[in-house]
Amino acid sequence: MDALGRIIDYLRISVTDRCNERCLYCMPERYKGWAQRSDHMTANEIVQIAHSATTLGFRKFRLTGGEPLLRHDIVDIAKGLWELPGVQTLGISTNGTRLSALAEDLKQAGVRSINVSLDTLDATRYRTITGGDLNQALEGIEAALSVGFEVIKLNCVLMRGVNEEDILPLIDFAAKGGMPLRFIELMPLSRTDALNESNFLSIGEIMRHIQLHGNLLSLPGYQPGHGPARYYEFQPSGAKLGFIGALTNPHFCESCNKLRLTVDGKLRPCLGRHGEIDLLTPLRLGATDSETLLRTAIANKPENHEFSDCYTPWRPMTAIGG
Ligand code: 5AD
Ligand code: SF4
Repeated sequence: MDALGRIIDYLRISVTDRCNERCLYCMPERYKGWAQRSDHMTANEIVQIAHSATTLGFRKFRLTGGEPLLRHDIVDIAKGLWELPGVQTLGISTNGTRLSALAEDLKQAGVRSINVSLDTLDATRYRTITGGDLNQALEGIEAALSVGFEVIKLNCVLMRGVNEEDILPLIDFAAKGGMPLRFIELMPLSRTDALNESNFLSIGEIMRHIQLHGNLLSLPGYQPGHGPARYYEFQPSGAKLGFIGALTNPHFCESCNKLRLTVDGKLRPCLGRHGEIDLLTPLRLGATDSETLLRTAIANKPENHEFSDCYTPWRPMTAIGG
């Protein structure tokens, strides 16, 4: 438990800062700040740190990036985590483009939950927003559905004037696949041109837009995958819609249950603040456990982010792990 009584039992681990896409809101153009490969945690180091976390009561783990499926040893990492005592759930957040080849192996390795980024169903807009190929992402989602995970969620970051038209098609798509769909407010997580006030769409506006086409019934007890979204059922299609209002929901941080581990092994108690605690250097110098440092990170977990307070990131989200 942290100083504010929040139970911190969820660790998100960035396994790479590389990505095969270039989302407008994520990857700065001509980005040069990549972590050296030798500074990336190895599969063993990831499992060792996660093991320390389980002894402190961490039960939920999620592998992120960058694009975690670019790691050639991603299946081994998943397996290593799933075999740790006390792990209740293991998820991966991915752009989906490599999922069709890996879904089956990830399921076998123990992955329970998959989050796929999908901001549009229009191939041209997909290319504009991500630089990638919509069909690959859709094939990935298809593969995940046919392998059958406990939860498959879709994540959509909305930008004014870019993908508002996609809201309803995405809701239909999510309803047909029985996948919860989460709308995420643009957050200042990187230094890209797209991250500006004029592109920002609040959850309030998004909900009003959706309500022009149907009802939103609040689902207070529904929480697939332990994330920060508030869920509603869209009627008539029955789609489960989550809303992540990191900037406009004043209570957003009250239920935060997570720490993040950067690709180079630094604990990040809050996505929207700079503080980091290095776990990897002590581990490489022979420290046998990371518990003490994990405890320090929990004790120092800030009450809230400082996104509204002129926060400018010096590390993009790919390094920190969404
Ligand atoms: N604002 C909001 N969400 C973001 N993501 C990446 N960058 C941002 C940003 N600046 C989302 C991606 C992905 C998830 C891991 O984080 O869409 O779904
Ligand atoms: Fe890659 Fe995800 Fe960032 Fe897009 S949001 S560039 S898919 S890491």
